[in-house]
Amino acid sequence: MSIKNSEIIHLPKILDPRGNLSFFENSNQIPFDIKRTYWIYDVPGGAIRGSHAFKDSHEFIIALSGSFDVILSDGEKEVKYSLNRSYYGLYIPNMLWRRLDNFSTNSFALITSSIPYNENDYIRDFEEFKLIKNELK
Ligand code: TYD
Repeated sequence: MSIKNSEIIHLPKILDPRGNLSFFENSNQIPFDIKRTYWIYDVPGGAIRGSHAFKDSHEFIIALSGSFDVILSDGEKEVKYSLNRSYYGLYIPNMLWRRLDNFSTNSFALITSSIPYNENDYIRDFEEFKLIKNELK
């Protein structure tokens, strides 16, 4: 997968004087079947999350509160997305390295995945990631 396949996806936003509402549905606003949802919170200043790639799983990440950066790499090129709104998120296809950093105080990252948790789907070594990526070329 190329970095070009990652994209910011804007979600429906129902404006309401009582407070706004956004949503996503399985395989509707996001381009995969949701098998798992997890969230990252209470991130101490300066901490870095992620730093791995997934062989098969696709993810969609929203900053439900606060802000953070997602840096994607295909082994050669890097692109940085700054997430800071609850009505859009970042779609990350499989086989892209990701690092999450620059978390603001009280930031809250909601992440949906296309597969149940499986440690075997992780590539946690960047050199190994680049090797596998080259083999797939
Ligand atoms: P990890 O995915 O490495 O965290 P991040 O990429 O957000 O920095 O996961 C950290 C730990 O949490 C790891 O030991 C596995 C566990 N974990 C689960 O048990 N289930 C899950 O759905 C996730 C995402 C992680």
